[in-house]
Amino acid sequence: MASMMLSQKTCNPSLLRGNSRRQVSVKAVQAPPKLNQVNSERIFSEAQSLLPGGVNSPVRAFRSVGGKPIVFDSVKGCKVTDVDGNTYIDYVGSWGPAICGHANDEVNAAIVAQLQKGASFGAPCELENTLARMVIERVPSVDIVRFTSSGTEACLSALRLMRAYTKRDKIIKFVGCYHGHADSFLVKAGSGVATLGLPDSPGVPAGTTAHTLTASYNNVEEVKQLFEQNKGQIAGVILEPVVGNGGFIPPSMEFLQGLRDVCTQEGAVLCFDEVMTCFRISKGCAQEYFGVIPDLTCMGKVIGGGLPVGAYGGKKEIMSMVSPAGPMYQAGTLSGNPLAMTAGIKTLEILGRPGAYEHLQRVTERLVKEVVAAGQAAGHEMCGGSISGMFGVFFCKGPVRSFEEAQQSDTAKFARFHRGMLEEGVYLAPSQFEAGFTSLAHTDEDITNTVEAAKRVFARI
Ligand SMILES: Cc1ncc(COP(=O)(O)O)c(C=O)c1O
Repeated sequence: MASMMLSQKTCNPSLLRGNSRRQVSVKAVQAPPKLNQVNSERIFSEAQSLLPGGVNSPVRAFRSVGGKPIVFDSVKGCKVTDVDGNTYIDYVGSWGPAICGHANDEVNAAIVAQLQKGASFGAPCELENTLARMVIERVPSVDIVRFTSSGTEACLSALRLMRAYTKRDKIIKFVGCYHGHADSFLVKAGSGVATLGLPDSPGVPAGTTAHTLTASYNNVEEVKQLFEQNKGQIAGVILEPVVGNGGFIPPSMEFLQGLRDVCTQEGAVLCFDEVMTCFRISKGCAQEYFGVIPDLTCMGKVIGGGLPVGAYGGKKEIMSMVSPAGPMYQAGTLSGNPLAMTAGIKTLEILGRPGAYEHLQRVTERLVKEVVAAGQAAGHEMCGGSISGMFGVFFCKGPVRSFEEAQQSDTAKFARFHRGMLEEGVYLAPSQFEAGFTSLAHTDEDITNTVEAAKRVFARI
């Protein structure tokens, strides 16, 4: 066993490249490889005096797994390289957009060509029509689409639209679902029985979140009760059709169909927040995969191919409320800029080629199956799942059907697993409650190397 571990470690190219301190001696081989983070630590330390908490988005700070974050230098394919020269197999993919692999040659070439013609017009361009057509053709619920520059913007605009269209104020969201950081969505998630929302962050007026009702994911009965208790007041229901922000939690068909039925019955808008799932779960997003069609859809991440893009779209009747077609105001200086449209168009074009989603499904399913089996064989309580290129594992018996159940998992063990995988050259999202992502660039060899790394880590956590 020891000799097998030695050969695996010394043969792992990601351990040998650019990190001489990780070329461990035969004697030291059973100790965890030491990760050289000297430059990462120096840069992050300086960042703490320049940026709040040293980052521009909180999860990047590694607070929930401990240890210092890795500072990236470059990315390519499914690999990322840090400022100390360590290379990792990456399962974060820039939090979703890098579905074709980082710095994909075709996407890069398209961006460079467009750059010569200008990055931002602030005026209509034909590229907006091209991307809009691709979205409308692929996403069943979308007749008309408005581009924004982030998922947050898409979701807060969709929320305003739900309210404008129905002339009602209240909305229902689910515990553990994240829809960006607009005030109305920052609600302290109550567990168990559905509760009235309280602000989750200072600075959010209680009056704003008083209109946000919460229910447990995969529990349509709670939603029906909320509609009963708030007759004629609920504008709509918003959800991640597959949860990624509470860890990977798939919906039951009964839940999705139940939401569809109750919204139709109550004259409320059903909004799928597909910022994470759009063009990742399938060519027509989660709504096509499950065959449940919402009234409104929010998009982001993949749709911008690595540049900042969000979008919301839906039925013509609802979207015709949006300014200047209608009275609901929403705008954006960089919305629909030609550079971001170009990256989105090329990314969707690549994803439209035969075999793309089959590849994502195959490598991801294999990854989760083998990692969970290895964890269980090493005596850890583990469960996990995947759909296409989105996945998650929990350190608990499972199955996990809601955020409340996800919270049963052993987060301290996840933190040790996360650090161990970093030391082995695998970059995972730094939280138990984040989904993982694969890309078209992940090969069977990458999966094998990841599973072997996980086996070594399971043996020592
Ligand atoms: C489901 C979902 N909605 C909305 C957002 C917000 O998107 P952005 O970070 O682009 O503002 C995210 C971000 O992770 C998300 O996962």
